[in-house]
Amino acid sequence: MKHLRTKLLLVYISLTVLVLAAAGILASSRLDSYFRGWIARDMDTRARLVLASLENDSSRTRDDFHLRVHALAEASGTRITLIAADGEVVMDSEVPLVKLPGVENHLQRPEVQSAARFGRGTDTRHSTTVGMDYLYVALRLDTPDVRVLQKQPAYLRMSLRLDELDKITSEVRFNIILTSLIGLLLVTVASVALSRRIVRPITEIAESVATIREGNLSTRLDVRTKDEIGLVATAVNELMERMNQYITQLKKLEQVRSEFLGNVSHELRTPLFALQGFIETLLDGAVDDPAVNREFLEKAQAHTARLDTLLKDLIDISRIESGEMRMSFRYFALGDLLKSVVDAMGPLAESRTISLTLAPDAGQHHEVMGDKDRLTQMLTNLIDNAIKYNTPGGSVTIGVRDAGEKVWVDVADTGVGIPGEHLPRIFERFYRVDKERSREAGGTGLGLAIVKHIAEAHGGKVEVKSQPGKGSTFSFSVKK
Ligand SMILES: Nc1ncnc2c1ncn2[C@@H]1O[C@H](COP(=O)(O)OP(=O)(O)OP(=O)(O)O)[C@@H](O)[C@H]1O
Ligand SMILES: [Mg+2]
Repeated sequence: MKHLRTKLLLVYISLTVLVLAAAGILASSRLDSYFRGWIARDMDTRARLVLASLENDSSRTRDDFHLRVHALAEASGTRITLIAADGEVVMDSEVPLVKLPGVENHLQRPEVQSAARFGRGTDTRHSTTVGMDYLYVALRLDTPDVRVLQKQPAYLRMSLRLDELDKITSEVRFNIILTSLIGLLLVTVASVALSRRIVRPITEIAESVATIREGNLSTRLDVRTKDEIGLVATAVNELMERMNQYITQLKKLEQVRSEFLGNVSHELRTPLFALQGFIETLLDGAVDDPAVNREFLEKAQAHTARLDTLLKDLIDISRIESGEMRMSFRYFALGDLLKSVVDAMGPLAESRTISLTLAPDAGQHHEVMGDKDRLTQMLTNLIDNAIKYNTPGGSVTIGVRDAGEKVWVDVADTGVGIPGEHLPRIFERFYRVDKERSREAGGTGLGLAIVKHIAEAHGGKVEVKSQPGKGSTFSFSVKK
């Protein structure tokens, strides 16, 4: 986490150093040439002033003239040299007259060469004799007239020591560096504050994510900004929301699964216990008692049959749920299917004195798409319930409703009905409204779960409407 801040700081500071250094270097190099240009122009002015006062000179002797030149040099802060057309130095403010003959010929000096050609010339050189940088400005004199000199000067040259200039530029440079350092300091302070501002929300996100990782799944991030950081926080929150939903769902599934397992074992044990009981009683001697032996054996058989149905249902459910049950969808006449199931269930209905009827013409003209065996199983389950949870003398009616792309099949009974609070749950595995009645009727509560699975596998739905004491209508849809 500290890393990010350090990186940001480094970027800010190095950028600032870069910009300041570039600006400083540019400024100080420009500074130098600016000063040199400015001084050269200034030297021109000084030279013209010196020239003007030399033109009106009234010295009688060379010594007087030398003194005058020397005074002018002092006044203008320069060294003044007068050079003849052939390069001979005829006067110099710094050189005593006696030493003049020994002075080197100045014709080849660059500023003199330029002055000869263009009337004016400048040059900056390092004087080895004095060990300093000098700026030279030479002017060609067009009307040389200095009476005291035998040889007339053709050039006036002014020299200026540049160490003054160097002093000024280094002072300015120092100021630039100082300002830069102050700027750098300010930027550093600002960067520390700024990077803290930028990094803090990220650090907070990282901390929150760490608490999430530790298992605190209800942690939510503060969304304070609408920038990318805010987006990340929102995204993390949404992710957590979805993860929590997912976990809740998983927990529920897990709960359903373990409940299912408990139910299965319970349902298996009931008939097994009964079987065991009858067999033990028979073995203990009842087998020789003609009054009960047959009855016990028949009861044992009934429980075996119940165990068998239960296992078949369980296998069906698990095959449908795992997708293992292959369905073969075909078009077939719905009316034929309804008729065959009603015929098959007739005897059961009759034994309970319940009239089972198919509405006239029901499904006669409907070709539907589905797995005939599974739809038969579904309808059988619904009719079985309608008969089982009915009252003697009641009725069960099968009807068909056309709904455009699909057909609804209704199984309506005049039975006990289902109280409203149970309706949302009756399609759950093992759910029974009245456990005793259902068990007596031989039910385990898997029938409707199978019905729902089959309907959904057909892309259809199952619905139920019921009024306690009056009856129920179960409907399922199937595609045309
Ligand atoms: N037509 C109906 N009238 C009243 N109650 C019904 C009707 N159909 C279902 N039920 C109620 O819904 C419960 C669940 O039905 P479901 O068919 O799943 O189980 P079951 O009939 O008890 O057992 P199974 O069908 O596995 O033999 C039943 O126990 C019963 O209480
Ligand atoms: Mg049933």
